[in-house]
Amino acid sequence: MPAFPLTRLRRLRKNSLFRGMVSETELSIGHFIYPLFISEEVTKPEAISAMPGISQWPLSALAKEAARIYKLGIPAVLLFGIPKKKDALGTQAYAKNGIIQKAIRGIKKAVPELLVITDVCLCEYTSHGHCGVIDAKGYVQNDPSLTLLSQMALSHVASGADMVAPSDMMDGRVGAIRKILDKNNYTDIPIMAYSAKYASGFYGPFREAAQSTPQFGDRKSYQMDPSNVREALREIEQDIFEGADIIMVKPALAYLDVIQRVREKYDLPLAAYNVSGEFSMVKAAAQNGWIDEKRIAMEILTSIKRAGADIIISYFAPQVAQWLRE
Ligand code: PBG
Repeated sequence: MPAFPLTRLRRLRKNSLFRGMVSETELSIGHFIYPLFISEEVTKPEAISAMPGISQWPLSALAKEAARIYKLGIPAVLLFGIPKKKDALGTQAYAKNGIIQKAIRGIKKAVPELLVITDVCLCEYTSHGHCGVIDAKGYVQNDPSLTLLSQMALSHVASGADMVAPSDMMDGRVGAIRKILDKNNYTDIPIMAYSAKYASGFYGPFREAAQSTPQFGDRKSYQMDPSNVREALREIEQDIFEGADIIMVKPALAYLDVIQRVREKYDLPLAAYNVSGEFSMVKAAAQNGWIDEKRIAMEILTSIKRAGADIIISYFAPQVAQWLRE
């Protein structure tokens, strides 16, 4: 007789009702955020080849897509904009009639209940593709970038965004955004900070989707080294100190230990970004018949939840809504 006779569970473990009753981690669609790419350059939904099933949306098709997402039970979208005109200072990022500002107003008018969160970062709007302003030597300049990023956040909120999500990784941006929002009486708009964002190869397909590949160099000076976890905790602590309301670890799958460490140490709501590369790898393998897409996707998403994430940002969200109903 073993000390712990787990064999007693062999019969009931085959029963899905029993498994549900004792399961420690449960996915529910109410915890998902779905990213949306909105482009000024397309006139109809344009499929992104590196991300099967994901499209760039024109403003004209957005209301219908937003309604579909809300009907699936997904509570929030995360907006990324692709402007027609890019320049060194990313001026379309904070233009009153920029693509995202119009998209926010359009979604809020069509589906007011759907929470609209916006990505705050200059890389889709700058001609050089970096997340901030560049000096003559090609270095990203931290403090001048903060001014533009906070203007960007303010213009999103003025257009009706429910929450802003800075992903640029400049130092001090959460504090700068909090300050400008408060000054303009948006004291009730929270910030979801991409606090621990790693310089990751997993963003590859996204850069096609958002047309935001840096024209020179890489993002290693402002994004984190994949080998560090204590540094992630410091980044998180700094963002909380500056006023972050929700903290984030990104990517998710290769960083489950980071999610777990953050969960143990901090009690703010924690989001994890199941990024484009994590999504496209599953899609590609499934298209080849090598894996069972639903099974693998749900297993990965469950692991992110089990590691400690409250919120999962994922391109799988609409499919998860279906899968959970099957
Ligand atoms: C913008 C940004 C990126 C992602 C989200 N916001 C790309 C990057 O930093 O290169 C990646 C999301 C994904 O891969 O799904 N800075």
